[in-house]
Amino acid sequence: MSNKTSLVAVLGAIAIPVASAYFVVQLWGSASTSSADMGSPTMSAEAVKARIQPVGVSKASEPVAPGARTGEQVYTAICATCHATGAAGAPKVGDNAGWAARISKGWAALMTSATKGLNAMPARGGAPDLTDDEVGRAVAYMANKSGGSFAEPKVAGAAADAVAKVDPATKGKEIYGQMCAACHATGAAGAPKMGDKAAWAPRIGKGMDALVASGIKGLNAMPPKGGYSGSDAEFAAAVEYMTAASK
Ligand code: HEC
Ligand code: HEC
Repeated sequence: MSNKTSLVAVLGAIAIPVASAYFVVQLWGSASTSSADMGSPTMSAEAVKARIQPVGVSKASEPVAPGARTGEQVYTAICATCHATGAAGAPKVGDNAGWAARISKGWAALMTSATKGLNAMPARGGAPDLTDDEVGRAVAYMANKSGGSFAEPKVAGAAADAVAKVDPATKGKEIYGQMCAACHATGAAGAPKMGDKAAWAPRIGKGMDALVASGIKGLNAMPPKGGYSGSDAEFAAAVEYMTAASK
């Protein structure tokens, strides 16, 4: 055996057990931690999605619920093609002189042009999925930057979402148990009992909005919001829970 061969043999004798011990530790470690890794923040759907996002995607281009786009979002996505540049003879945003005669036609006339189209201006700017309110917001956005002063139709989405998030079957039930049952489970103080269809029918007949509104204000022995101090949306969820069981 030459010196060189014996050196290789000695190194091998040391390296192989060390290497296998390393792999055993690696395997063991990954097996015992793999489930924890999947739950870690870096593996969450959002985090993964964020990492695989193409470079250059901005917040502004995130999908917005249809119907809930602001005037600026609609303008940027659709109307700017012509109205930022004057393409096809479109009045440019910021060109007050170009807009003055149009603005003086009034809101209704502008809305008719924008939704139905006018010469080279396509109906809804060529985006048929825009709601009337979205078109209106874009019209107000553009006109107001060009000498006009129109009220931009409100985005109802935010408020509607907040109401929808309060679930009558869970949060409504919880509030009922804490606040409303004291009177509405027993009929105390003359309260219509939960589940008493005859007592609830004329009240439900007023419509949910009216019912919630009168509950918020209070009615005779019914204190405002039944004494509940949370949001109107939460109170509405409790009303919904109670009436659903009384129809
Ligand atoms: C393809 C180009 C194009 C796009 C896209 C476009 N417009 Fe126009 N728009 C025009 C042109 C051209 C006119 C001028 C029409 C005329 O007076 O003959 C015009 C005029 C208007 C007017 C004035 C109408 C009037 O009665 O004087 C409004 C309001 C308007 N556009 C709103 C919008 C809105 C809102 C959008 C986006 C949703 C939009 N436009 C997208 C081309 C466009
Ligand atoms: C102190 C007793 C009391 C409590 C607590 C109470 N209510 Fe009432 N509630 C009443 C009485 C009494 C009426 C009947 C009022 C009337 O018609 O004169 C009533 C009526 C109502 C009505 C019908 C209003 C209408 O226009 O007919 C609703 C809705 C209602 N309560 C919801 C609630 C909810 C939700 C809660 C809990 C967050 C609650 N109440 C807690 C006593 C109470």
